[in-house]
Amino acid sequence: MQHISLDIIKSWERFYRANFINCLTGFKSVSLIGTVNSSGQPNLAVFSSIVHLGSDPALVGYINRPRAAAPDTLANIESTGFYSINHIQESFVQKAHQTSAKYESGVNEFEATGLTTEFKPGIIAPFVAESNVKYAMKLLEIVPITHNNTFLVIGSITDIFIDETVLKPDGFLAIEEAGSIASLGGDGYYNAQLISRFQYAKPGKEVKPIE
Ligand SMILES: Cc1cc2nc3c(=O)[nH]c(=O)nc-3n(C[C@H](O)[C@H](O)[C@H](O)COP(=O)(O)O)c2cc1C
Repeated sequence: MQHISLDIIKSWERFYRANFINCLTGFKSVSLIGTVNSSGQPNLAVFSSIVHLGSDPALVGYINRPRAAAPDTLANIESTGFYSINHIQESFVQKAHQTSAKYESGVNEFEATGLTTEFKPGIIAPFVAESNVKYAMKLLEIVPITHNNTFLVIGSITDIFIDETVLKPDGFLAIEEAGSIASLGGDGYYNAQLISRFQYAKPGKEVKPIE
């Protein structure tokens, strides 16, 4: 097995190193975050650092890169307090990836990439009409991470929109049935396939698959 020390990693060219470290933590859920600025201009960008923070209250976090690198989503969330998170499916993955381009702040990435804006009653954040699994978020807290000038953006879930077939009788969301994809690093996208679901694990009792 190859041993790679931090000294070796530090000697690498910056893009090679970034690719390598970005892949190391594994597959991520990948979604499009939709926002509007204070004038109502929509913005859309792809994010893969989205993480479950707790189910009661239902909290979701994501990491926003430093302001200079990724300014618009963060600024819009700060000014309006609301955003949407939209799962990506294979049918529009190329357009979704295109939203990562560094467009000028005034550019509407829905229009620039050919994705469709969808507004829901009472929610100011725009959704991606093409997405089969999407939810609305209300900002709670932005935690600066001083080590690298990034931000942990914490929000609470207010509304969820899903294909009915995805929701199973016990509350499990089989998002692979809706075609939701995963990502790896900054440019790899994957379809998901269920291996098995398992019963609640207890010490000393062999866990069984759920039939
Ligand atoms: C697969 C993928 C995942 C990404 N994940 C994140 C992320 O978690 N956080 C982030 O700040 N930027 C992430 N980006 C980069 C943003 O999409 C990019 O910086 C975008 O231009 C930000 O746009 P904004 O300024 O409109 O917010 C990712 C890009 C790709 C291609």
